[in-house]
Amino acid sequence: MSAPGWPARLAHEEVAVRPPRSRDGAAWSQVRVRNAAWLERWEGRPPRSEPAPWANRNSPAVFATLLRVQRREAKAGRLLPFLLTVEDRVAGAITVGGVTRGAFDSAHVGYWVDEGVAGRGVMTTALALVLDHCFGPVGLHRVEANVRPENGASLRVLSKLGFTAEGRHRRYLFIDEQWRDHLGFALLAEDAPDGVLRRLVEGRSGA
Ligand SMILES: CC(C)(COP(=O)(O)OP(=O)(O)OC[C@H]1O[C@@H](n2cnc3c(N)ncnc32)[C@H](O)[C@@H]1OP(=O)(O)O)[C@@H](O)C(=O)NCCC(=O)NCCS
Repeated sequence: MSAPGWPARLAHEEVAVRPPRSRDGAAWSQVRVRNAAWLERWEGRPPRSEPAPWANRNSPAVFATLLRVQRREAKAGRLLPFLLTVEDRVAGAITVGGVTRGAFDSAHVGYWVDEGVAGRGVMTTALALVLDHCFGPVGLHRVEANVRPENGASLRVLSKLGFTAEGRHRRYLFIDEQWRDHLGFALLAEDAPDGVLRRLVEGRSGA
């Protein structure tokens, strides 16, 4: 049996998100390795061991292992691991994780894009698609995002989507060789009753 809202393919113009496939391994690895300097300073890693080189941590073999774990977790309803494409080329990812049901109906979201497509609204559009899906077919009430105060681009994305800042998490994730404070944001289903993407598109067109 599959989990609510999974698998799913969502698209708006050139931007799409969909489940990763085995044959995405080479493209995923290439884009991750090419973007080492762009991504590594924002991504967490376990603090207790010396990390393998970035290229080793982002090889097609690592993708294959990740895919196995993601498929298991997605089937169990705990994860929605979206791969992001621009004009059908692998260009990033959005991971809805920590899906918790019951009185909470909540999850958190993580995301990255290829520097080559950054700054033209790709992540804001892709996240709007995913958020509408989370509040619709997946049935969540809250989606959280945690961002380092230094990450201006990510803060701007959340602002454009209507997230509310809820607090500061001290020394929250081990990133770039230190425990880093994060700002906690959330969007609730009732924050965008007519849809996150619709509000975004109407805002862009001045409607
Ligand atoms: C955060 C990230 C996903 C944004 O993706 P994107 O597709 O470029 O996002 P968008 O184009 O939709 O929006 C980016 C916005 O930030 C703005 N921006 C870019 N760099 C900025 C900075 N240093 N400070 C403030 N704003 C910045 C852009 O101008 C744009 O705003 P605008 O539409 O008002 O002009 C991308 O920068 C990224 O992958 N970064 C590395 C990984 C990462 O930080 N992941 C998130 C961890 S919380």
